[in-house]
Amino acid sequence: MKIEIKTGAALQQKTPCLVLGVFAGKYKAELLLQLDQQVNGAFGRATKSKEFSGRNGETLLLHGGTDIAAERILLVGLGKETDFSLRSLRQVSSSVVKFLTEKQLRNFVLTLPQPGLKKTTIAEQVQVIAEGVLLADYRYDRYLPAAGPGRAVALTNIDILLPAGEDSAAAATAIKAAEAICSGVCFARDLVNAPGNLKSPEYLAMQAVAMAEQVGINATLLDRREMERQGFGALLGVAQGSVQPPYLIVLEYRGGKVDEQPIALVGKGVTFDAGGISLKPAEKMDEMKMDMGGAATVLGTMQAAAQLQLPVNLVAVVPAVENMPSGSAIRPGDILTSLSGKTIEVMNTDAEGRLILADALTYVGRYQPREVIDLATLTGACIIALGNQAAAVLGNNEPLIRQLIKAGERSGERFWQLPLWDEYSEQIKSNFAEVKNTGGRAAGTITAAAFLQKFANDYKWAHLDIAGVAWEDQGRAGQPKGGTGFGVRALIEYLREVK
Ligand code: BES
Ligand code: MN
Ligand code: ZN
Repeated sequence: MKIEIKTGAALQQKTPCLVLGVFAGKYKAELLLQLDQQVNGAFGRATKSKEFSGRNGETLLLHGGTDIAAERILLVGLGKETDFSLRSLRQVSSSVVKFLTEKQLRNFVLTLPQPGLKKTTIAEQVQVIAEGVLLADYRYDRYLPAAGPGRAVALTNIDILLPAGEDSAAAATAIKAAEAICSGVCFARDLVNAPGNLKSPEYLAMQAVAMAEQVGINATLLDRREMERQGFGALLGVAQGSVQPPYLIVLEYRGGKVDEQPIALVGKGVTFDAGGISLKPAEKMDEMKMDMGGAATVLGTMQAAAQLQLPVNLVAVVPAVENMPSGSAIRPGDILTSLSGKTIEVMNTDAEGRLILADALTYVGRYQPREVIDLATLTGACIIALGNQAAAVLGNNEPLIRQLIKAGERSGERFWQLPLWDEYSEQIKSNFAEVKNTGGRAAGTITAAAFLQKFANDYKWAHLDIAGVAWEDQGRAGQPKGGTGFGVRALIEYLREVK
């Protein structure tokens, strides 16, 4: 699919469909009055009869008259002008794509909202529109027949029409950015959607290596023998119940100054979480193929950062394992010696994410990172706290947390901070080891983070619990059922802004 910038008068565009936004109640905008004349008053009649009011996401499809260049005109509601934001613009663009592709239309011209959004540049608006289009064009269909239901039409050509006199070079750069970011998001979605029988830790490692080669970044794998040699006791403990061998995936991207400390990204890569001996219930266990959502987001972010040639140094560490019950699996009560030397009592083998992350967080310290951000589908409790609307953010550095929340706001991905007061670590004190891997029912997301903090002490650190947002189970415009790639957009936004 191609997204391109066009300039010229909206009503003179020769296209199968011209898309115009309408703010609620603002039917007298000049362009709309002109349009109304050319469609013999059809627009005016539709607003009068309340068939179309400009409510957010509402649509009215008109067929062009003899005076109008476009074959069709799609009016799309933008809601109240005062409520409108870049976030709603991205959503509206996705809804438009959904609406038109369901009508088998695959190329059209999108216009920017008029009057334009305050406090945002044209380039920002173009980026968001392009993102809305690209994210709506995604589906995971590698196991579906080549034709038939399930296969929607793919887009071919989308033009974004700039108001006269605007800088089309900046807008074209914004499209390039959206393309790089969304290819990172879609790479992450593909990884999450891949079924557990395809997606072994080795598969994840091979996908990472292939991606690294493609974008020209450095990749290293640590296999089981190497991790045994170095003492990754917590990670290997989780891995020992599965016949699939574990890997530690390490990627390095150097876009910054040679001597600049890297920013580290760590992603939980449990390719399937059956719970281990503390087996999960059968209901919805299929969704536990998404337990490598953190890893997917980290890999997608690395891909996008390299494609955008961001001027930063990055290191990514992904512990990849499968969590299965078997005769060789760890038991509740087992004590593991982690890479840091700290001993961990395993109270519940289903709290495996924090075990593999403990070793990954210790390992990444070797890179002397200026800060570490980890992403993990870590706790069911996070879904109880925040539902599917936001990821939780916790950490040991307030400025870092604030910057991540800001980047999330700008990119339309929400983060909500939970406290990490010392008192919470009371809940993870063990009788027989230095720490235990569960803290009881109360504050489950926080005690999981308190556990991680014991291994993330030497650097600035933020933890993002994406359990509620890595997977979409309803399906909506711009986000089909399945993996979301949540976090790629926010992290790229964060990395574009760090100084
Ligand atoms: N991967 C799960 C958390 C999860 C649950 C993610 C649902 C997405 C959707 C994690 O490994 C887990 O099982 N956590 C346990 C921890 C508990 C045993 C302390 C949980 O949240 O129940
Ligand atoms: Mn688990
Ligand atoms: Zn898990």
